[in-house]
Amino acid sequence: MEKFGKIMTDLVEKAVVAANTMDRDELLFSHKGILYPVTLSSPEVFRAMESLEARSDDIILAGYPKSGTNWVGQILSDLVVIFEKKTQNKESSVSDEPPEFPYLEMGDAGKYERMNKLPSRRVIFTHLLPENLPRSIFKNKAKILLLLRNPKDVATSFYHFTNGLSLLPSYETWDDFFIAFMTKKMPWGCYFEYLSKWNKYADDENVMTITYEELKENPVLGVKNIAAFFGISLTEKELQSVAERSSFQSMKKNSQKTHGSFGNILFRKGAVSDWKNLFSEDQNEKMDKAFEEHVGGTKLGTKLKYEEYCKA
Ligand code: A3P
Repeated sequence: MEKFGKIMTDLVEKAVVAANTMDRDELLFSHKGILYPVTLSSPEVFRAMESLEARSDDIILAGYPKSGTNWVGQILSDLVVIFEKKTQNKESSVSDEPPEFPYLEMGDAGKYERMNKLPSRRVIFTHLLPENLPRSIFKNKAKILLLLRNPKDVATSFYHFTNGLSLLPSYETWDDFFIAFMTKKMPWGCYFEYLSKWNKYADDENVMTITYEELKENPVLGVKNIAAFFGISLTEKELQSVAERSSFQSMKKNSQKTHGSFGNILFRKGAVSDWKNLFSEDQNEKMDKAFEEHVGGTKLGTKLKYEEYCKA
């Protein structure tokens, strides 16, 4: 992740500098009805994205913002690096080309041509809805790890994040943020719609679903399941070390190297149920209702164990 660290730090720092010269209402642009930060993406980036040639051995990590993308991204990158080191013979050439910023929809319009030249296996993160992904991802049967987190903790984490990072609109109060979260004004769209749209892919053999909460409960088992899904065969000890390196404490400690000053905003609490410190009774009721309406009884809705993680 350290190589990513420099790319990530540069991109985020440039975006923050640009955002500091903008008004709040200039920070986001709309593409196909969904908002995105202007400092990280653009309509040109979306147009160019269609030229990405996905591969069947690509590793796609899909998750709504604040679901734990950086955490699972660390696990995936670590698994790939260890496996490649073990399996590549000494003569095989390792590309000097630096990896791209791992988030598919962030960066410049030229990145997809560069990505097409990168060696396998590529690890690609995305917050996009399935319908907005390049078509080659499904056509070429790239495997997708779909990461989910309980919506109350997603909202809580997003609130702190959006107020900590100047390239996203900030909110005076939690109550204001909650209204925006529930009325589809978030960058990358509404989480309930995200869940409902991805639910249509939940049974696809190239899609594996994992929740933040199950990974927190048993990280070693989670790492094993992820490795098995992507056909990455490592020893028990290696899998254990991947889990250890990806613990919240370890990632937070290393975050200056991997994420620069952005790490201080990103690695906040890393816990389950922090929502209990923010949600009012009324907000609980509103979210319970919205969850039921959008994904109650669906495969992803059930996977999220809403009763366990989102009821007081
Ligand atoms: P909190 O704000 O609740 O602490 P993303 O990477 O998708 O932006 O998600 C960020 C959330 O994941 C933050 O949640 C962050 O603290 C948490 N996170 C990051 N690394 C983690 C880890 N190794 N273990 C558990 N949670 C982690």
